[in-house]
Amino acid sequence: MDLFEYQARDVFEKHGVPVLAGAVATTAEEARAAAETIGTKSGGVSVVKAQVKTGGRGKAGGVKVAKSADEAEQLAGEILGMDIKGHTVHQVMIAQGAQIAEEYYFSILLDRTNRSYLAMCSKEGGMDIEQLAVERPEALARIAVDPNVGIDTAKAQEIVDAAGFDAETGAAIVPVLEKLWAVYRDEDATLVEVNPLVKDNDGNIVALDGKVTLDENAEFRHEEHAALEDKAAADPLEAKAKAKGLNYVKLDGEVGIIGNGAGLVMSTLDVVAYAGEQHGVKPANFLDIGGGANAQVMADGLDVILGDEQVRAVFVNVFGGITACDEVANGIKGALEILGDAATKPLVVRLDGNNVEQGRAILDELAHPLVTQVDTMDGAAAKAAELAASK
Ligand SMILES: Nc1ncnc2c1ncn2[C@@H]1O[C@H](COP(=O)(O)OP(=O)(O)O)[C@@H](O)[C@H]1O
Ligand SMILES: [Mg+2]
Repeated sequence: MDLFEYQARDVFEKHGVPVLAGAVATTAEEARAAAETIGTKSGGVSVVKAQVKTGGRGKAGGVKVAKSADEAEQLAGEILGMDIKGHTVHQVMIAQGAQIAEEYYFSILLDRTNRSYLAMCSKEGGMDIEQLAVERPEALARIAVDPNVGIDTAKAQEIVDAAGFDAETGAAIVPVLEKLWAVYRDEDATLVEVNPLVKDNDGNIVALDGKVTLDENAEFRHEEHAALEDKAAADPLEAKAKAKGLNYVKLDGEVGIIGNGAGLVMSTLDVVAYAGEQHGVKPANFLDIGGGANAQVMADGLDVILGDEQVRAVFVNVFGGITACDEVANGIKGALEILGDAATKPLVVRLDGNNVEQGRAILDELAHPLVTQVDTMDGAAAKAAELAASK
């Protein structure tokens, strides 16, 4: 999960990383009120910053200096609603204005190839860092960070030395890097990037912009991270599936898909896309109900998919393994009972694998008007595509 800049600022502050005052606003009036308070810390000057989860806001006109609260209100009015690389600005952050002497770059990220972390640091930070990385890669120091040690004082010193900072500036940056490491480690982040990390006119080091990506696999350790989720941006069906613990991704199509195992579901998407071509229909979603496909899980999955107005037919593709086909068939039967009248769209079921005969017999006996059994995956995909096109 990527955080907005203002959320990254808050997380930085929590871990003692030096940041400037900032407040988020969704209207020009709120921006004005925030600028009245925050501006007093910086001689009436504040900075109005678009809050969108993409970089290059400055160059796109989404970061503007306001010399008064009046001007902050006016600029917020202009920036709110702006489109930055396909992201609409719904919020701005009013930040205290910094007197910037120099802009640096620092980041910590997951280095999957080397099974390690990587710290990157440059004396030449700011809005052209991507260009710098390409044109003069030697100006961007890259230092491997041992996950078991992290960035301690010695490592931080190594990083600032590699980046070529003078002794005094380096000494001021070292403790900030240690705190940014604490953010990375303690929040279970996969990316912490500060660009620019600035030295102000008084020699203070301050994180002026922050980008943080949190590892969703570590959610169980961080109840507080749920509050950081951008609920407005989440697809309502995906939110519902998430609440039920389902592995669901909404796609733009008409054939709902349920399968067990991510690999099987991926290949189901392929065969449905292929079969759907001649009917002009596509897969509506990815949904992996995993191993224990019992009635409740099946009902939850069907409930989410049937809630998708675009869906015209559903393909249930199950390969019985540890969870045998008869259990899955009973799951489908139970799900239809649980859903009752809420089950409104045709289901094409393909069962194969462990106990397939028993599974098919259960559905034959059920003889539910909405359920069609097809023995092969290709055949079932074709049937589901045909039903989706004819409804
Ligand atoms: N609080 C601030 N005070 C003064 N200047 C700022 C402030 N925040 C950002 N800037 C300036 O605006 C530039 C772009 O802002 P930044 O937050 O890095 O957005 P982005 O990286 O999306 O362009 C910075 O490099 C810095 O020069
Ligand atoms: Mg930036």
